[in-house]
Amino acid sequence: MSSIESASSAVVSREAAVHPQWSSRLAFILAATGSAVGLGNIWKFPYITGENGGGAFVLVYLLCILVVGLPILAAEILLGRRSGCSPIKGMTLLARRDAVSLRWGWMAWVGFVAAFVLLSFYSVVGGWSLAYIGLAAQGFFSGADAATIGGLFGQLLEDPGALLLWHSVFMLLVVLITGSGVRAGMERSIKLLMPLLFVLLLVLVGYAAVRGNFAQALSFLFSPDFSKLSTEGVLTALGHAFFTLSTGICVMMAYGSYLPPQVNIARTVVTIGLLDTLVALLAGLAIFPLVFANGLEPGAGPGLIFVTLPLAFGQMTGGVLFGTLFFILLLVAAVTSAISMIEPVVEWLEDKGVSRMLGALMSGAMIWLLGVCTVLSFNVWADFHPLDFMARFEGKTLFDLFDFLVSNLALPIGGLAIALYAGWAMKPQTLRDGIGLGDGAVFTLFHFVLRFLSPAAVLVVFVYNLG
Ligand code: TRP
Repeated sequence: MSSIESASSAVVSREAAVHPQWSSRLAFILAATGSAVGLGNIWKFPYITGENGGGAFVLVYLLCILVVGLPILAAEILLGRRSGCSPIKGMTLLARRDAVSLRWGWMAWVGFVAAFVLLSFYSVVGGWSLAYIGLAAQGFFSGADAATIGGLFGQLLEDPGALLLWHSVFMLLVVLITGSGVRAGMERSIKLLMPLLFVLLLVLVGYAAVRGNFAQALSFLFSPDFSKLSTEGVLTALGHAFFTLSTGICVMMAYGSYLPPQVNIARTVVTIGLLDTLVALLAGLAIFPLVFANGLEPGAGPGLIFVTLPLAFGQMTGGVLFGTLFFILLLVAAVTSAISMIEPVVEWLEDKGVSRMLGALMSGAMIWLLGVCTVLSFNVWADFHPLDFMARFEGKTLFDLFDFLVSNLALPIGGLAIALYAGWAMKPQTLRDGIGLGDGAVFTLFHFVLRFLSPAAVLVVFVYNLG
């Protein structure tokens, strides 16, 4: 070994001692898939597919994942790995190293704030899954009619005490897991929870295949009818591609900062994309057969899994057991995503010298507090619409506004900044060396997509969502 090499490997191992790493490529894949697979896959994907008429929407969604989502995700992970520290410190570090304006650093701040706000309301919705595990297990859905089940959901939302309790339990879980460390906390729980998630999902699909109308669900999801697809549907698909891959707000950048240097990013990202998509489709195959078998509506919107699906479980043999399993699945998916959202905040505090557990407790407490606003926006503050003076935001509660801020502003702005940074600010050679696509035509195509296609697509969604 040359002296330069041994010196640099000494640096690497010293850094590794300070800065933790995922133990293997598989560990990173599970962690990143855990982040990607969440309420977005099991709650949102099925209901937006339902609202947008099925097959054609699914096809466009797959295209968006491939052309926009995956390239930006790869770039984001690479930025994280190159910096090796929290996004806020890391983006400034990279800008200096790449000899470009230090103003690029602001994109990490956008991500930081967005991740903070996102977790504050994600935790409240994650709390609903806790509440529903109890309701399902106690047989509240059995034989109940639509009005009763709709009433249960309404009652939950109207009860600030219950929402607060479940939000607190959920945040506590997140803080404990994250605070225990990258390997001892996050990696260990993810290695347990992700296999559990896949088993639960397969069991539920099996149940749906036996008891539900599987054929109708298959044709709903996989036979495209383009007359049912609107422009709005296309843009929804594109926006969701970001959300479901957890890309755009530096969350994957933080996860990437723990990625060992020898792992091939391109190949890893493809695996994550495949698994994430697989879970979303399987969730559809677990839900829609039951919905169709009971003559219910697939296009019910956000109430699909909290009202329509319980109604279906309530009419079916084995509904108590499988209904309970479904909401456990939802909880597992939500927790493994939530721990990724708090990571940029915790890692930043660590960079500032705060211990991990203390950092997790501090950030968890602040995020919890902001989450109280979301809790109240469903009941006590339901009529508080702070931006009523702007026509665009008329009638929107705090929860609606938080969601808008993250999903419609921060995700596209952050995603655009990542694409532009990796595509234009970084030297092509640096990108090529880091991304792992070789230096042939595939890389050239990737570079082109990242420079032109992804930014253009994101801009279109962004402008549309504002208008
Ligand atoms: N992808 C997750 C889901 O589908 C949510 C999520 C986790 C996320 N981390 C994120 C979304 C970062 C945007 C950015 O539920």
